[in-house]
Amino acid sequence: MAYRVLFVCLGNICRSPAAEIVFNAAIERAGLKGRVKADSCGTASYHTGEKPDHRMLAALERAGYAWGGHRARTFCRADFERFDLIIPQDESNRNDILSLASGAEQAAKVRPMSDWFGPDEHEREVPDPYYGGPAGFDAVVRLLERATEALVQELREV
Ligand code: 4NP
Repeated sequence: MAYRVLFVCLGNICRSPAAEIVFNAAIERAGLKGRVKADSCGTASYHTGEKPDHRMLAALERAGYAWGGHRARTFCRADFERFDLIIPQDESNRNDILSLASGAEQAAKVRPMSDWFGPDEHEREVPDPYYGGPAGFDAVVRLLERATEALVQELREV
C-alpha cells in the first residue's frame, strides 16, 4: 500500500495544491511514483469544487509545472485515517487541524511544512500569497520546491 501524504492550507486553491503538484514532480524524479501518493485540501470550505487560483496556476506554469485536475475540498476527520502524514502549510492551518484530532496518534500524523525548511530559510511557514502580487506566488513555488525536495529525501526511507 502506498504511503499517503496530505498537504493542507486554508482555501486549497493556492499553497496546498501547489505543494501537491511540486511534490508529485519530485516523487516522480525520485522514482517513488506508486509508492507515495499525495492529495491536498483546505481547512475552510469557501472554495470547495474550484480549480486552483489562476495566479497560482500561472506561477506553477512559469516554473514548469502543469495542473493535474485537482479541485478544492475541505479537510474532514476521516482524513486522519486516510493519510499517513498531514502537512499544514502555516501555523493557523496546523492549529485548525490539531483541534480536530481525536487523540495523540492522530495528532502525531500532523507535521508543519516548515519541518522540511533548511537552516538558511528565512520563512517560518509557507506564507499566504492570496492578497499579494505575482512575486509572492513565485516565491511560494520556490519555497515549496526546496521543502518538498527535503521531504522526498526523508520519504526514501519509508
Ligand atoms: P490558500 O490561500 O490557503 O493557500 O489556498 C487562500 C485562499 C483563499 C483565501 C485565503 C487564502 N480566502 O480568503 O478566500
